[in-house]
Amino acid sequence: MQVAMRRPWGAGTGLRAALGAAAAELLGGAGGREGGGRGGASGVETLNASGVLDNTYIIYSSDNGYHVGTHRFGAGKVLPYEEDLRVPFLIRGPGIKASKSTKPTNTKVGLHVDFAPTILTLAGAGGQLGDKALDGTPLGLAASDDGTLRADYPRPQHHRNQFQAEFWGSWIDELLHHLPGYVNNTWKAVRVYDEERNGWKYIYSCTGSKEIYDLKKDPGELNNMYDTAPMNVRTRLEALLAVLAVCRGDTCTNPWKVLHPGGEVQSWSDAIKSKYDDVYARIKPFKFVACLGYQDLSNEMSEYRVVNPASISQVRHLASVDAVHIPVTLEAPVERFAVPVPKDVLDSDVARWYEVAEVKYHFA
Ligand SMILES: *[C@@H]1O[C@H](CO)[C@@H](O)[C@H](O)[C@H]1NC(C)=O
Ligand SMILES: *[C@@H]1O[C@H](CO)[C@@H](O)[C@H](O)[C@H]1NC(C)=O
Repeated sequence: MQVAMRRPWGAGTGLRAALGAAAAELLGGAGGREGGGRGGASGVETLNASGVLDNTYIIYSSDNGYHVGTHRFGAGKVLPYEEDLRVPFLIRGPGIKASKSTKPTNTKVGLHVDFAPTILTLAGAGGQLGDKALDGTPLGLAASDDGTLRADYPRPQHHRNQFQAEFWGSWIDELLHHLPGYVNNTWKAVRVYDEERNGWKYIYSCTGSKEIYDLKKDPGELNNMYDTAPMNVRTRLEALLAVLAVCRGDTCTNPWKVLHPGGEVQSWSDAIKSKYDDVYARIKPFKFVACLGYQDLSNEMSEYRVVNPASISQVRHLASVDAVHIPVTLEAPVERFAVPVPKDVLDSDVARWYEVAEVKYHFA
């Protein structure tokens, strides 16, 4: 997630339309509502009338993004592509500057792990966290002019410009259950977002497949540049994954201090300089030993891991046990980049599948 997105889904349709009526109803305060609502008081008006609005934060976000049909996959949320990774984030409350546009207040990377430190710090409990208590960092919020954002709300020195995303195991196609689903879908990805200049993503799958996308030139992630990306880009991305795959506390926010303990590199644009080529050439890329359907730390090899990994034969044994116990997971065929669309799918009535899917598939 980014702190308000650079390019919200449905750009041009307006923030409220993009968020849906429920969020608009919740967030819309006096003078801020658009016509056509249900006519009742908004959440904000109710809080105001109860006298607690100036002591309340309202946060709107979601747990994951979603893709339907992109990248030749059916429907789901378990892939490393932007559609699945991005979620909206809006916050309203004391000390936070109001924004009237769909433009984000900043384009820094924010993550779900930042929610807890953000909320605790806004609530005045930030000081109790200590430096390394949580993997996240308070989000970079824009302070309002009245100066009511807590003075101790940190303005992080190292704004995170890179992060890791990951998934383990398999998942069904969420709409068309007869499609193969996502088999051996254990992957880790690093996404670097360096202000307006660079945007790279590196995806490494347990199947051995590797992808690099230039998110600036190819925001749709259609052109895998793993073999053609400049070597300095590739080695930096692989090194970042080796650190972020095993990071803890502030090394998740600032992996550069692990890669350059001397502190001479603080950002992607520092690290990319050719004088560090030798440093990066020596770092072994992160590796999965096998495709397991779950996370097992001994299956995840990074030279920055502190614990000793199990032997490779032990992990291979685990993989074969897994294959016995979860046959569906490991035996279904998949062509990762080219799921053919079956003829009956092309010919059928999409609305009807949707009904069937909704009936058959609900989370308890
Ligand atoms: C809160 O209520 C006061 C008094 O009615 C009103 O002046 C103010 O505009 C309201 N604020 C919001 C955000 O609804
Ligand atoms: C999934 O991974 C397992 C374990 O590594 C392997 O035996 C199997 O062939 C893989 N299946 C597919 C469809 O890639």
